[in-house]
This record gives sequence, structure tokens and C-alpha cells, in this order.
Amino acid sequence: MRVLGIESTCDETAASVVELRPNGSGAILSNEVHSQIAEHAAYGGVVPEIAARAHVEILDHLVRRALDKAGLRFSQLDGVAAAAGPGLIGGVMVGLTTGKALALAGAKPFMAINHLEAHALTARLTDGVDFPYLLLLVSGGHTQLIAVRGVGEYTRIGATVDDAIGEAFDKVAKMLNLPYPGGPQVERAAQTGDPTIFDLPRPMLRRPGADFSLSGLKTAVRLEIQRLGRTPRPNDVADLCASFQAAVVDVIGDRTRAGLRLFREQFGPPQALVVAGGVAANQAIGHALSRLSTQTGVKLVIPPPGLCTDNGAMIAWAGLERLRLGMTDAMDFAPRPRWPLDAGAQRSHNGKA
Ligand code: KG4
Ligand code: ZN
Repeated sequence: MRVLGIESTCDETAASVVELRPNGSGAILSNEVHSQIAEHAAYGGVVPEIAARAHVEILDHLVRRALDKAGLRFSQLDGVAAAAGPGLIGGVMVGLTTGKALALAGAKPFMAINHLEAHALTARLTDGVDFPYLLLLVSGGHTQLIAVRGVGEYTRIGATVDDAIGEAFDKVAKMLNLPYPGGPQVERAAQTGDPTIFDLPRPMLRRPGADFSLSGLKTAVRLEIQRLGRTPRPNDVADLCASFQAAVVDVIGDRTRAGLRLFREQFGPPQALVVAGGVAANQAIGHALSRLSTQTGVKLVIPPPGLCTDNGAMIAWAGLERLRLGMTDAMDFAPRPRWPLDAGAQRSHNGKA
């Protein structure tokens, strides 16, 4: 079974063909991603109108390239999947409409995919992880701990009450005049900094539940910059980045530990701790999670960076997981700028929520 997957919810346009093998494993036949970072860099963040236009301009080419690289004609596909949300409405409409049009023209089954579900199921494509498992989703738009119990069966265990972690990295980078996107820049600067120079807060540490809060930490960084009373010098930047990253690492470690405990109480032992989203590329965070994995005896799975950030293969794979269970969607499935994952579990299978 082969499915084409289309992603356009944020600033990556992507198309991919993934094949489901008879033994249940997945193979990525093509995975075309066009990042719009260059288009948005001058604005220090994603501009929705620019994103939507860029998706329109490139998506057709990407779909054609994804089919070419897979060595397939459209008629050889078994279905089409497109991300239907959550995300920037203009971009979502572009990908969703393209997916529907292709499916309709070729009389193929269509799957409207929740972008978060696609992140959640990626570890089954890359590592064949069995249900149930705990997902830590950390990106520019999302920070959530989710119990993944089956396809369409998700329970949110924790989430940020304000900023997403990637967003906090990006905002700190902006305060320090580092280029967008800031996460990788902050990590690089932190390597030469001293994390003990600035005493930053660890919001929510040891609180009941498994929620996150990042805005106080971000504000604390701003206050430290003001307190310096000068434009931060390179060593100030390095020390601030190191101190900020150390605080984030502590928060993620504590909240994920709490998440694992809540998971066990509700669903028994998890098969794995799975990490997804662009922030999963951060090595300091990776090391902390690896220590947590050793301490708790829960296997850690971090898909390769290209499959942690937004991509089409994750949409195609989620489409395959749904198609094989007969969970297809109708052509009137509307784009959803907001679409919490637990609500996705309650949708009827014809897509009318
Ligand atoms: O998943 P993603 O590519 O896009 C969405 O947000 O959906 O994640 C991008 C986010 C950005 O906020 C970026 O700064 C952050 O992930 N990021 C990182 C690192 N690489 C990317 N944050 C911290 N450390 C990194 N190495
Ligand atoms: Zn994403």
C-alpha cells in the first residue's frame, strides 16, 4: 500500500510517498521538503500570507518530484493524505485542497490528517514502536506530552500554559540579536557559555501534573539583558544562552518524568518515550532525556532530525495507518486552524466533527 502525503501547515511545504510493507513496516520512497526559512528570515518569524503564497507556488512541483523520486505514476498510489490542521489557515487550505483534488481526480481514498497525530505516529514508521507510548512533542508551535494508545487514541497528559519551547528559544535568540530560527543558534552559542552565570527560574518544577510554562523564563532572560546595562557582548550572549538552555533542560526533564509517572498510573508501563518536533534536534535536551530513559528504564526513541521537523513522510505514514484501518475522510472535510489531538479521537470517521 502506498500513500502520498502533503504537509503545508506552517513554513515547510512537503510531499512524500510512503509504502506500507506486508510485515507492517514502512518505507519512505520519497520525501521532498521545501523550507521557507529564507522567505521569512527578514521578518524574524513566519508571516502567514507569505507562507500561504509560497505553498501555492511550490506544492505542485513538490508532488511531481515526490512521485518521480518514488518512481511511481499517480495511478499506482492507494491513497492521498493531507494535513488538515492545526496550523496557519491559508497554508492548510493549500495542502488540503490539493490533496482532495488529487484524490478526487484519481478516485483514491482521502485521509485528512491531524498534523500532531502525524508527529505522534512517526516513531512507528522509523522504529516500529508499539502502542502505548508517551510522546514529548516540542516544536515552535507545540509543547505537549501525549499518551499515544492507538491510531486515533490520544490523551493529553501535559502541555504548555503559555509559550511553546521552540518559540521560547526563538524569542530569546531575537532578544540577543541572533538570526531566525533561533533554536540552533542558541544551542551553538550555549556551547561556549557558562550555565551558572545567570540564575534563571525553572517554572513548574515539581508541580503536580505535567504542564509546562516558558514565559516567565523568557521574561527573566529579558530582565537579565536589561540588568547588564549594555548591548550583550559575545560572552554575555554565550552565558545567557547556556543559562537559558540549562533551565529548559531541567524543566523538560522534570515535566517528562512527571509525564511518565502519570502515564504509568493511567495506562500502565509505556513501550517507549518518543520525542518529536524541531526542538528534538537539541543535543543538551537529548542527553537529559537519555539520562531519564536510563533512570526509568523506558526506551528513548528520537526519530532522525528530518523526520522530527515538519515533513510529508509523517503525513503519508499517518495516512497509511488510517487507510489500513478504513479510517478515510469525506471531501467536505474542513481545514482546522485549531485541532487538539484528544478531540481528533472523537471525530467520526467520515471527517464530520
Ligand atoms: O518542528 P519545527 O521544525 O516546526 C514547527 O514549529 O512546527 O520546529 C521548529 C522549532 C523552532 O522554534 C526552532 O528554533 C526549534 O524548533 N529548534 C531548536 C533546535 N533546532 C530547532 N530549538 C532548540 N535547539 C535546537 N537545536
Ligand atoms: Zn510540526
